[in-house]
Amino acid sequence: MTTTQADLRVQPYRAAPDTYVIPQLVEAPPIGLVYVNSMVITGSEPVLVDTGAPSNRQQWLQDAWNLVDPTDVRWVFLTHDDHDHAGNLRQVIDACPNATLVTTWFSMARYGIDSDDMWMPFDRVRWVRDGESFAAGDRTLVAVRPPFFDNPTTRGLFDTRTRTYWAADSFGANVPHPAEDAAELDRGVWREGVLLVNRLNHPWHLWLDDASFHDHLDSVQGLGIEVIPSCHGPAIHGAMVDEAFELLRRVPGLPPWIEPGQEVLEQIIASAAAEEPVAAGTDG
Ligand SMILES: [Fe+2]
Ligand SMILES: [Fe+2]
Repeated sequence: MTTTQADLRVQPYRAAPDTYVIPQLVEAPPIGLVYVNSMVITGSEPVLVDTGAPSNRQQWLQDAWNLVDPTDVRWVFLTHDDHDHAGNLRQVIDACPNATLVTTWFSMARYGIDSDDMWMPFDRVRWVRDGESFAAGDRTLVAVRPPFFDNPTTRGLFDTRTRTYWAADSFGANVPHPAEDAAELDRGVWREGVLLVNRLNHPWHLWLDDASFHDHLDSVQGLGIEVIPSCHGPAIHGAMVDEAFELLRRVPGLPPWIEPGQEVLEQIIASAAAEEPVAAGTDG
């Protein structure tokens, strides 16, 4: 039986104090299910971290405004301009008149080229470079380039108050069933998922120098992270944070992930056709 989008409906959940994940779960045959997440920090100056995908716009906006009133949103942190992260950015900026968009020069340039008009209000934007921070009321947030990324503009976001690090496209894992916390998964399945997704999304791991990459990992791990929510996997908590870093340390030495080819596409098409209901009364 094919899983329908309704079957995959997942609810926002708390990942840390004042910190909620808005999840979307999508089928990604043949590797299973993959999350498309974003995050909301409900501190004294609420922050939206990424804006979800256009395919989930109505549900995403409903989930976001259930967590925070749009007029209370003070910051929108855009990790990078990919569609699964910036998919509802314009709707968010329009709905949140008191919000400043925090992103990068390059992300904004790329986003502008993709848009059909230059709607972005420059006076509502703040640019942060890797390692720079900004104060959001009761907390300081630091923009930190994650271990892996699939877009050169990417910055993760470290909340120094809760020690939560939004890792953007790093630390993802395909899942066999919904899981808000990586600990809900069979440990071997989660470990394989991390190694799979962090190769398929970053095929340049093949050309990484171990020592240089480990230096970069050391610097991110040195933040003292307690929770890693990310766009494409369940949140990672406590002791599993160090385990996740150890898994990423292995990625440069692993063989490439071989992506599905035409034969898999044909299997997907055939199985979808086999499951299509026979239409009644359509003759003539
Ligand atoms: Fe991305
Ligand atoms: Fe992504």
